[in-house]
Amino acid sequence: MNRYAKIAFTLLIFLIYIQLGFSQLPSEQISTMSRVYEIIKNETGTQFIWNNVSKDSSPCSWKGVRCTPDNSSIIKLSFSLFSISGSEFLPFICQIDTLEFIDLSYNYLSSIPGGFITDCGEISGLKLLNFSVNRLVGSLPNFNRFRMLDHLDFSQNSLTGEIDSQFLELDSLKSLNLSQNNFTGAIPINLGKLYLLEELQLSFNQFTGGLIPDEFGGLSKLKILILSINDLSGGIPNSLSNISTLLRFAANQNKFNGTIPPGITSHLRNLDLSYNSLTGTIPSDLLARTNLQSIDLSYNKLEGSIPENIHTRLFRLRLGGNSLNGTLPGESLGSLGELTYLELDNNNLTGSIPPEISKCTNLALLNLARNGLTGPLPTSLGNLANLQVLNLQLNRFVGEIPTQITMLHRLQRLKLSWNSLSGSIPDSFSNLGNLTNLDLQGNHLRGSIPDSIGYLDILLELQLGKNQLSGHIPAMPQSLQIALNLSYNLFEVDIPISLSRLTSLEVLDLSNNRFSGEIPKFLMQMQTLTRLVLTNNQLSGVVPQFENSVMSKQKEIRI
Ligand SMILES: *[C@@H]1O[C@H](CO)[C@@H](O)[C@H](O)[C@H]1NC(C)=O
Ligand SMILES: *[C@@H]1O[C@H](CO)[C@@H](O)[C@H](O)[C@H]1NC(C)=O
Ligand SMILES: *[C@@H]1O[C@H](CO)[C@@H](O)[C@H](O)[C@H]1NC(C)=O
Ligand SMILES: *[C@@H]1O[C@H](CO)[C@@H](O)[C@H](O)[C@H]1NC(C)=O
Ligand SMILES: *[C@@H]1O[C@H](CO)[C@@H](O)[C@H](O)[C@H]1NC(C)=O
Ligand SMILES: *[C@@H]1O[C@H](CO)[C@@H](O)[C@H](O)[C@H]1NC(C)=O
Ligand SMILES: *[C@@H]1O[C@H](CO)[C@@H](O)[C@H](O)[C@H]1NC(C)=O
Ligand SMILES: *[C@@H]1O[C@H](CO)[C@@H](O)[C@H](O)[C@H]1NC(C)=O
Ligand SMILES: *[C@@H]1O[C@H](CO)[C@@H](O)[C@H](O)[C@H]1NC(C)=O
Ligand SMILES: *[C@@H]1O[C@H](CO)[C@@H](O)[C@H](O)[C@H]1NC(C)=O
Ligand SMILES: *[C@@H]1O[C@H](CO)[C@@H](O)[C@H](O)[C@H]1NC(C)=O
Ligand SMILES: *[C@@H]1O[C@H](CO)[C@@H](O)[C@H](O)[C@H]1NC(C)=O
Repeated sequence: MNRYAKIAFTLLIFLIYIQLGFSQLPSEQISTMSRVYEIIKNETGTQFIWNNVSKDSSPCSWKGVRCTPDNSSIIKLSFSLFSISGSEFLPFICQIDTLEFIDLSYNYLSSIPGGFITDCGEISGLKLLNFSVNRLVGSLPNFNRFRMLDHLDFSQNSLTGEIDSQFLELDSLKSLNLSQNNFTGAIPINLGKLYLLEELQLSFNQFTGGLIPDEFGGLSKLKILILSINDLSGGIPNSLSNISTLLRFAANQNKFNGTIPPGITSHLRNLDLSYNSLTGTIPSDLLARTNLQSIDLSYNKLEGSIPENIHTRLFRLRLGGNSLNGTLPGESLGSLGELTYLELDNNNLTGSIPPEISKCTNLALLNLARNGLTGPLPTSLGNLANLQVLNLQLNRFVGEIPTQITMLHRLQRLKLSWNSLSGSIPDSFSNLGNLTNLDLQGNHLRGSIPDSIGYLDILLELQLGKNQLSGHIPAMPQSLQIALNLSYNLFEVDIPISLSRLTSLEVLDLSNNRFSGEIPKFLMQMQTLTRLVLTNNQLSGVVPQFENSVMSKQKEIRI
């Protein structure tokens, strides 16, 4: 290499070095951030998030500040959880005209200064504004200057007033979240013109009035539409079935009425229309769509029977709290191998539990309570190895409790109460090591309580009232806390001293039996008891008094 080439080469290396090492933010951005640093420091005091960085260091290294890879400009400010309550810094950040992303979520901001709207509205590359979880009040300013915005989030504030033209010209908007505020008035038809919209969340406000605008049917890219918890009324529009991109539609907890439009699940994965006033029958192909994963129609006024045609990949089916009648569709249930949550409680269903239910091996929750179901409990329930909650109370089931139920190792809550079950409590109940709540009250169970009950060592509640149980009272699990209720049975023994070990118990009801002997003093020393009911027995002796230390809490004692 000759001399000139050497010099040229050194120069080149030097230039590259300068380019890489010393490329830095424009001085205006540095001075802006320096000012923002001061304001936030002044205001957040000991909570100051940049306590560990010097004001003279490059802002690109500060928490929440993101620069381009060559550090030539700031593109993102993420001031989430910065404990900021004052808004005066907001107009300053608008001087950084390279910003694409501003996240101010989880602070204490109560207002958006006009200067922010005018100045940040000039930033042509700004794509995201996140004000969620602050304390914004008043009505929402007009955001039409922010033409390039694609994400706008005002959720969880206290904003009020109506939405009309605030977003009318934001034709790049893909995601708008106004949930958990106090907005009123109708759902703005204008939103139906934001053709690129993919996600729209308006839940938990006070939007009123009839009808979801039919214009929403033209939002051909919409994936998520959440209208839950408002005061919306009228019918569910047919036009939503035309949106082939729509995956999730929730309109629960409103006042929608009329019937369910038949094609509504043509494309949906998740549909939630629970807690409305929908009437009529469930359209016969509503549950059959292959895309469908989760459907919740509970607490409406639906009648007729459960459609036979149910898609085999369904994960969650909730139809409780309606007036559905007819029998459980055994054949279709037998094909629902992925079904995890099945809730059909509070209806008028009749007939027996079809044995095919045993094929729903993924079931974690089965709730058939409060229907008119009859017949014996199928032994095949024992195949539902993933069950955690089994609610069959308030039906007309007969026969014995199948021991197969005690094979459900994961079971946490078992309610078989208020049926006509007979026979004795299977000894093998002790297999249910995960059981926390056991409710067998209001049946015709006989015999004694199996000694093995003591092995249920995380049991919190044992309801055995209104049966024909007798014999001795075994040692109860020490974990019992919510209640031990043995009332309305045929117990004739002394109240056993072993109850004194129940040091967490809050409610003890032994009433309406033939317990005899003296009322034991230890009952008066049970610190946690708030209700003690011993009425209608054959107890004798003086009624002991509660110790003063035990009387600190309000107690109800009936002897
Ligand atoms: C800091 O706060 C005080 C009182 O709130 C105010 O007078 C002062 O101007 C503030 N300083 C800066 C740099 O914002
Ligand atoms: C300053 O603290 C934050 C956590 O609060 C941390 O993420 C950041 O890396 C720290 N910066 C420096 C320069 O130590
Ligand atoms: C950009 O700035 C950060 C933080 O100061 C630094 O860690 C990084 O090395 C810089 N990148 C370049 C290419 O200079
Ligand atoms: C806004 O911030 C919250 C909290 O950090 C986050 O959960 C939410 O997804 C953000 N919104 C958008 C549109 O990115
Ligand atoms: C909405 O207003 C009601 C009273 O009208 C109030 O109780 C509630 O907290 C407000 N909700 C929000 C998110 O500000
Ligand atoms: C608001 O809704 C948008 C769009 O669905 C979502 O991305 C964002 O996470 C939501 N914000 C919060 C705080 O959950
Ligand atoms: C659905 O789209 C078709 C064709 O685009 C149109 O003819 C029909 O009226 C639409 N249905 C509803 C209910 O909007
Ligand atoms: C729905 O409710 C409105 C009143 O809120 C009533 O005028 C209308 O007739 C109802 N529609 C149906 C189909 O029940
Ligand atoms: C069940 O049907 C009976 C008569 O068939 C009726 O009186 C009752 O209201 C119905 N219950 C529900 C929850 O629909
Ligand atoms: C179910 O209820 C409907 C009315 O809601 C009634 O016409 C029908 O006969 C009932 N079916 C059965 C099996 O009870
Ligand atoms: C409790 O349930 C877990 C699974 O959820 C299971 O692995 C464990 O064996 C169960 N415990 C008992 C005592 O059956
Ligand atoms: C105990 O159960 C019976 C019926 O099984 C019920 O009537 C009573 O209210 C229950 N006792 C308490 C204290 O809850």
